[in-house]
Amino acid sequence: MKPLVIGMAGCGTVGSGLLRVLEENRQWIVERTGRAVQVKHVLVRDLSKPRDLPDGASLTDDPAVLTDDPEVDVLVELMGGIEKPRELIRRAIENGKHVVTANKALLAEDGFGLFRLAEEKGVGLYYEASVAGGIPIVQTLKESLAGNRITSLVGILNGTANHILSEMTSAGLDFETALAQAQELGYAEADPTLDIDGHDTAHKLVLLIRLAYGLEYPYAEMPVQGIRGIDRMDIEFAREFGFRIKLLGQVREVDGRLEAGVFPTLVRHTYLIARVGGAYNAIRIEGNAVGPVFLHGQGAGSLPTASSVLADLMAVARATPPHNTGFQRQVPPKASILPPDDA
Ligand code: NDP
Ligand code: HSE
Repeated sequence: MKPLVIGMAGCGTVGSGLLRVLEENRQWIVERTGRAVQVKHVLVRDLSKPRDLPDGASLTDDPAVLTDDPEVDVLVELMGGIEKPRELIRRAIENGKHVVTANKALLAEDGFGLFRLAEEKGVGLYYEASVAGGIPIVQTLKESLAGNRITSLVGILNGTANHILSEMTSAGLDFETALAQAQELGYAEADPTLDIDGHDTAHKLVLLIRLAYGLEYPYAEMPVQGIRGIDRMDIEFAREFGFRIKLLGQVREVDGRLEAGVFPTLVRHTYLIARVGGAYNAIRIEGNAVGPVFLHGQGAGSLPTASSVLADLMAVARATPPHNTGFQRQVPPKASILPPDDA
C-alpha cells in the first residue's frame, strides 16, 4: 500500500521525538496499519541547525512547501504559537490534507473555526498530543467513555508546573531552579509563563470540556490562577497539615451548569492525585455509568508526546474517524469558580 506521506512543521522537542519513534518503530507501524509513514518535508526556522533527518526528508523554511505539495497526505504541526500555525493548518485543510497537531493553545483559543473547516473539507483534525502528553485522554473521552455522562473531571494537566511543585516538595529546590530544570528537560512551553500562570492547563481544560460535554467553553472566561508566587514555606506549611499543593484543572456539572477553573489546590496527601510527581499528569474522570476512572502517565517530554502524535498518524493511516467528527454544538456555558480545596 502507498506510504502515508507527511510534512512536519517543527523539529524541536516533540518533532525530533517523532522522528526517533518513527524510525525505531518503523516495522511495527507497517504491521499495525499496513502502511509506512514517510516524512517528506520538515519545516524549521533555522536551516543551519544540525538535524537527524530520515532518508528522503528535506528541510525547508517555506511553509507552502508542506501545504501545497500534492504528495503530502498529512500536515503534522509541532511548531507552537497561534497565528503561524493557524495559517498553515488552514491552508493544509483547504488543500485537502489531514492535520495532526499538539497545539492546545491554538485549538483552545481558536479551534472552532478549524474544526468546522475540517468538517466542511472532509479531512481529519487529530490532537491527542495536545492534552497530557502521552496519556490517551482524547481517545478515552471521545471513544471509550462516549456512553457516559461525565459528571466531573479533575486533573494535573501541566508537566512543568507539576515538576516545579514536586521538586520544591521532595528536593527542596527553589521555584526558579525547578523551572530551569523543566525547561532543560523540554517540558516547558517556549513561553513558560503559559505553564506557570496556568494558561496551558486552561487551554487543555477547554479541549477536555469540548470532548466531554460537546461544548465550546470560552477560553477567555475560564478562571485561572497559576503557581507563580508559591514558595517553599507554602509547601512546608501544606505538608505539616498533611496536604500537597497541586495545580489542578477542574470541571463539573452542577444543576445543569458547568463550573470550571484552574487553581493551585491543597490536596490531601493520601489522594492518588497528590502522589503524582515530576512531569507526570493525571486525570480523574467521573462518568455516570463507569464511575471514577483515573489516568496517569508522562504529561510532557519528547517521546511520550511523540507517542500520541504517532497514534494519530496511525489512525489516519487506518482511516479511523478523526477527533473532529460529530463536533457541532457551540453553547457557551457560564463560567464560575470552584472552591479551591475541592480536590
Ligand atoms: P520546540 O520549541 O522544541 O520546537 C519548535 C519547532 O518549531 C522548532 O523546530 C522550530 O524551528 C520550529 N518553529 C517554530 N516556529 C517556527 C516558524 N515560525 N517557522 C518555522 N518553524 C518554526 O517546541 P516543542 O517541540 O516543545 O513544542 C511543539 C508543540 O508541541 C507546541 O505547540 C507545544 O505546546 C506542543 N507540546 C509540547 C510538549 C512538550 O513536552 N514539549 C508536549 C505536548 C505538546 P527551529 O528548530 O529552527 O528553532
Ligand atoms: N508545557 C507543557 C507541560 C507541555 O509542561 O505540560 C505538555 O503539554
